[in-house]
Amino acid sequence: MSVPDLSERRVGELTSLAGRGAVVTGGAMGIGYAIARRLAEAGASVLLADVSDPKEPARTLSAETGGTVIGAHLDVTDGAAITSTAQGAERDLGRLDIWVNNAGIYPSTPLLDLTDDDWDRVLDVNLRGSFIGAREAARLMVRAGRGGVIINLASTAGFKASGPGVAHYVSSKHAVIGLTKSLAVELGPYGIRVLGIAPTLIETPGIEAGREAFRQAGLGDVIDSFAQRLPLGRVGVPDDVARVALFCASDLAMFMTGSTLLADGGDVAL
Ligand code: NAI
Repeated sequence: MSVPDLSERRVGELTSLAGRGAVVTGGAMGIGYAIARRLAEAGASVLLADVSDPKEPARTLSAETGGTVIGAHLDVTDGAAITSTAQGAERDLGRLDIWVNNAGIYPSTPLLDLTDDDWDRVLDVNLRGSFIGAREAARLMVRAGRGGVIINLASTAGFKASGPGVAHYVSSKHAVIGLTKSLAVELGPYGIRVLGIAPTLIETPGIEAGREAFRQAGLGDVIDSFAQRLPLGRVGVPDDVARVALFCASDLAMFMTGSTLLADGGDVAL
């Protein structure tokens, strides 16, 4: 299946996700929540799949956007649960067109103290969870025969080492960029586009939780130090990433697959 030429489509039509079904893992807060919000605003029906209770965030988004937004419990380290979440999403949303592998963790531990279990945990959530999510979404998309879009949250840590203490995280995000390329090649013939997004530091609940530890380690304020060096003069907010995700998910990006887009305020250009 080749993707259509959309040269004659109006911008309003190209940005609309009306009638499409989307799943965002880790959608209860932070970047995932912001992505779900933009997808719903563009007309998609959205399922937030999260290990933290996503019911309340789903109700809030549904009220704000006027669209269908539902929540389901999911731990992405549980492969069978990902399978049933994908099937449940297709059933409850009517169809599955967009899958966002956003759930991720970023603990920090000096290399000499990094245990095998620390390593496995980060790789299980960030890489294995993304692989299984993509596979399950792709199985349903291929069966439905309408194509689709899979978006993987990478990081600027997928392009560079980012500093000490995050060997497991950096490895997982480099691998997510490789996974994105590989899936794009294999799923392109089915009209399924696969794109990565690589944010720099974004102010989210996860970052806020790590901020104090960073300070206590004598490393100052992580947000201030990033803001001072980024060319665009501040760190990111979740919606900075969500608008890029909306672009990737929409027909505006119909000829894009396999690439990872930087949403980084110029971080990697430094
Ligand atoms: P966050 O910690 O603020 O929120 C993450 C969400 O994922 C939470 O709702 C959490 O409950 C959920 N989650 C965690 N483990 C899960 C699991 N096993 N199964 C299902 N859900 C799970 O994180 P944030 O900052 O919004 O990050 C989202 C993604 O963006 C991650 O993949 C992260 O690596 C990536 N990213 C974040 C950056 C940042 O500075 N915030 C920078 C670059 C990438």
